[in-house]
Amino acid sequence: MIRELVRNLEQKYVEALQGWEKAFSEAHHRVIRYIETVNRSNGQVSQALYQDILQLTQFCLQQSEQFIRFCRTLMEASEPISTNPTAKVVLNHIIIESEYFIGVAQTILYQQ
Ligand SMILES: [Fe+2]
Repeated sequence: MIRELVRNLEQKYVEALQGWEKAFSEAHHRVIRYIETVNRSNGQVSQALYQDILQLTQFCLQQSEQFIRFCRTLMEASEPISTNPTAKVVLNHIIIESEYFIGVAQTILYQQ
């Protein structure tokens, strides 16, 4: 979405965003696999599975924190983004949604 919106984005940020896309896709697939495993276990989630899910939640939380930092860097350091009000609105929206996810993940992790 950011790459589409900012056609003249610096190559290093284009590549960084491609890296993020790949990392999020991998994390997404891991989440899907765990959802399938939980669905197949008919409400009998073992302690080991539960711990692995919490670990994945922790990983996703940290990944989102890093991505927020990257979005903030983009808004400050990228010339075509810092001068593009629409791109900044979109990035701020992405940051707010990521912060919402972090809040949900923290709620799960700190309930332990
Ligand atoms: Fe959104």
